[in-house]
Amino acid sequence: MATVAIIGGGVIGSGWAARFLLNGWRVQFHDPAPAAEEALQRSLDKARRWVPEVYDGLPAEGPLEIMTRLEDAVAGADWIQESTPERLPVKQAVLAAIQGACSPSAVVASSTSGFMPSELQAESVRPEQIVVAHPYNPVYLLPIVECVPSVRTSAAIKARALAILEQIGMKPVAVGAEVPAHIGDRLMEALWREALWLIKDGVATTAQIDDIMTHGFGLRWAQKGLFETYRVAGGEAGMQHFLEQFGPCLSWPWTKLTDVPDLDDTLISRIVDQSDAQAAGRSVSALEAERDANLVALLKTLRAQDTAAGAFLNRLGKTTS
Ligand SMILES: NC(=O)c1ccc[n+]([C@@H]2O[C@H](COP(=O)([O-])OP(=O)(O)OC[C@H]3O[C@@H](n4cnc5c(N)ncnc54)[C@H](O)[C@@H]3O)[C@@H](O)[C@H]2O)c1
Repeated sequence: MATVAIIGGGVIGSGWAARFLLNGWRVQFHDPAPAAEEALQRSLDKARRWVPEVYDGLPAEGPLEIMTRLEDAVAGADWIQESTPERLPVKQAVLAAIQGACSPSAVVASSTSGFMPSELQAESVRPEQIVVAHPYNPVYLLPIVECVPSVRTSAAIKARALAILEQIGMKPVAVGAEVPAHIGDRLMEALWREALWLIKDGVATTAQIDDIMTHGFGLRWAQKGLFETYRVAGGEAGMQHFLEQFGPCLSWPWTKLTDVPDLDDTLISRIVDQSDAQAAGRSVSALEAERDANLVALLKTLRAQDTAAGAFLNRLGKTTS
């Protein structure tokens, strides 16, 4: 049985733990926070409830061990997933401790949203062992993961990382060159920056922006991405016509994408107040439960349509069952 060490078990680490466990891996979990074990159990409960509804042919769940010492957690592990807070000195120190105790042949993967693997490797004794495996929340349900090597990551680790990610039901995107924030978070940051401006300038509220996404282009994006959506928007002439029609708009003052609004106290309280009003008393757990139920319903629909992530899950079902 293959073994994974989960180092850092917050939102993301506990999601990774659930995904590996439900795919039959032994999980050795380490997080010094007293509340971590309870958070892990909550994540496992959610994953056990939902994952079998969208993934076919899951093996028997692997065993779970909670480890007090990081060194014990990484001992004998084939894959080590670091998901500690997004601060470079913390990550470098944790990676040094991991490499001091793990097998040199293990994959050492980081969940970092923004750091490049070369930054994580800067102080490392075995840089060739380190790769970024950046998932999306909830890790137990969403199949996509960005797999980012640096030029110092070995070819063998890259190949093993991709194969193992597929084995646990993920669709790894092998990112060719490292850049800060990889791919998805760069795209989302552009949108986030523009949304902050719209709120700061009093043009829109958090609820209005979310309505436009959830009732509009968000529905499109779950099944056609940016480029396929725009291809269709171009009519029968496709992308060529779309670029001819909307290309010039890029030089008009539609957006402020290159400027960052000052996230001062006034803007922060405006966003927080609007977001509180939007939540209307619903807790984060309730919103999370609603999100998971909706994601599962969407994934089932996409499976029935055999398209996008649904087509991926259908193919996976055939290879695993
Ligand atoms: N939240 C997201 O949507 C998201 C998505 C993808 C990637 N990420 C990345 O995943 C990583 C973790 O983010 P998160 O949202 O889970 O954060 P989080 O704050 O929920 O969890 C971090 C966990 O790390 C633990 N920790 C701190 N120091 C540690 C140490 N020395 N050893 C072991 N554990 C330690 C903390 O106790 C905490 O439980 C970050 O690098 C983040 O950029 C986050």
